[in-house]
Amino acid sequence: MKPLFIVFEGIDGSGKTTQAERLKDYFIKEGEPAVMSPEPSTGLIGKLIREALQKSIIAIQNQHRFEEQMAYLFAADRHYHLYNDEDGVFKLIHQDQTHVITPRYYFSSLAYNCHNQSEYDFVSRLNQSFPAPDLVVYLDIPVEVAMSRIAERAERECYEEEAKLTQVSLNYERIFETYSGLLLTLDGTQPEGDLQQTIIEFLTNYFN
Ligand code: TMP
Repeated sequence: MKPLFIVFEGIDGSGKTTQAERLKDYFIKEGEPAVMSPEPSTGLIGKLIREALQKSIIAIQNQHRFEEQMAYLFAADRHYHLYNDEDGVFKLIHQDQTHVITPRYYFSSLAYNCHNQSEYDFVSRLNQSFPAPDLVVYLDIPVEVAMSRIAERAERECYEEEAKLTQVSLNYERIFETYSGLLLTLDGTQPEGDLQQTIIEFLTNYFN
């Protein structure tokens, strides 16, 4: 297979990281180099974002302005994640001939960081120059299932609330209804092994 840029999307607790890890391990077992490279990234801006998700380090009370600030940070982090010369997505794909598997991409900004049409237009503009991935795998799960998975985690982040995830879930639905790139939507409540098998079969049929 040519080196692919594969994105996993879904609400918190949908199993993106688990499936991304499994897919990476599958590629490596098949002798094809692959890395998992999430957003927020492991770079400086990504670390700042992680901190902002866990603690109130951004002194903005107004929710609209807070989301705007987060959207700018996520877009800056995305630029670094794609284009840095150490472990950027395009360096990995073109120079190192490695598959890049990314839990979360600009679809997350559209789903999480806007609540109305004008905010959606703003976030779309911020992200308009980022290229579409080769494939988006959307793991769709009910918010109740996500909340019970999140409850088992030691640390909570600021978006991991029922009302927020309900809104995010609706936003994802809307985004993917009109998305024209390659998309695989799966029921994220299926057993992990079944999901992995479906993803591998899809990739093999489509890209081989
Ligand atoms: P994660 O915990 O799934 O790794 O993602 C961190 C949180 O950041 C998650 O709640 C979704 C949120 N997020 C955004 O709000 N906008 C974005 O653009 C990205 C990439 C993540």
